[in-house]
Amino acid sequence: MRIDDRYGRPLRNLRISVTDRCNLRCQYCMPEEEYVWLPREEILHFEEISALTDVFMDLGVDKIRLTGGEPLLRRDLPRLIRLLAPKPRLRDLAITTNGVLLLEQARALKDAGLHRVTVSLDTLRPDRFAALTRRQTHAQVLEGIGALARVGFAGTKLDTVVIRGVNEDEIVDLIEFGKQAPAEVRFIEYMDVGGATRWSMDQVVSRVEMLKILESRYGRIEPVLEETTAPADRYRLPDGTVFGVISSTTAPFCAACDRSRLTADGVWYLCLYALQGTDLRGPVRRGATREELAGLVTGRWRERADRGAEQRLALRERTPLVQIARLKEDPHLEMHTRGG
Ligand code: GTP
Ligand code: 5AD
Ligand code: SF4
Repeated sequence: MRIDDRYGRPLRNLRISVTDRCNLRCQYCMPEEEYVWLPREEILHFEEISALTDVFMDLGVDKIRLTGGEPLLRRDLPRLIRLLAPKPRLRDLAITTNGVLLLEQARALKDAGLHRVTVSLDTLRPDRFAALTRRQTHAQVLEGIGALARVGFAGTKLDTVVIRGVNEDEIVDLIEFGKQAPAEVRFIEYMDVGGATRWSMDQVVSRVEMLKILESRYGRIEPVLEETTAPADRYRLPDGTVFGVISSTTAPFCAACDRSRLTADGVWYLCLYALQGTDLRGPVRRGATREELAGLVTGRWRERADRGAEQRLALRERTPLVQIARLKEDPHLEMHTRGG
């Protein structure tokens, strides 16, 4: 089954946020002191997530990524993975984590059937990590990354948001770290999404600039030619090392975007930048059938015309997407609620 939106983009990739809580306070995502959290009773139970996943898989979704907040804060996450992993249409089941709790959970995640792990790693320096995240858990993150290969995970990725004046001087060191991890490093342009209330264009290090820095250290960089809907453009260094760049700010991939996001309380968003979503928790809790839910999802997807990042690019003056007062009124607009 395949359903297309108004631009002919199929629904294939679902990002499921399992909690809006996080144990770090990254400046580019959660810079505020206080946050409004989703009410506990509104958080989807694992069985509800699994039932919704069945609806999405009937309609063509075959890639699932668990996100947060920090997904490893959700109690007994391996139980959810055991519910999802056996689904026959599933091709890829991954998680995006900040790595703090990875050392203690890596084995259980692997045993439960998780395929892949992506860890956010913005710096190799403990002092910078503390300044960037306002927490002192850098060593735990590095140990967590170390545990992945030991318990048998392959295909690990490391995501680095590159910010001018913060960590752009570390991109070579991060490539070297990735080689030995082993993991594919991906550099992400700083985005003006909800939550990034301190964003400004002059802090964005563009893909072009990143490639220049890397080329002056490593020599000629070749693009890896491939047809994918993944956000990262991949490149190869002369020694064969592959890395990625996600240039959502200067060169968005909206034209091929097959992803949507489900928040921990069951609101479904068609775009990272969308200001409104569709409540699926209500219908699920009222006992809607699989067919009814499929009808709702299909109708919304067929109407989808979102190209959030491209629209942002077209703006002359770019300032943060949503102001703090509005984020407090509607925490669904936060990046940490809709899952990075
Ligand atoms: P794979 O390619 O399957 O490994 O996963 P992924 O790249 O989709 O997942 P990941 O969570 O690692 O995403 C990397 C980063 O890309 C995110 O943290 C965001 O910064 C950015 N990103 C993810 N989804 C979107 C999206 O829908 N739109 C835009 N503009 N950027 C996104
Ligand atoms: N710009 C780019 N990426 C962001 N993330 C969160 N906020 C931003 C932002 N403003 C992404 C990062 C991080 C993941 C959890 O969310 O990739 O690794
Ligand atoms: Fe997809 Fe919206 Fe991200 Fe563009 S901004 S890639 S349409 S989610």
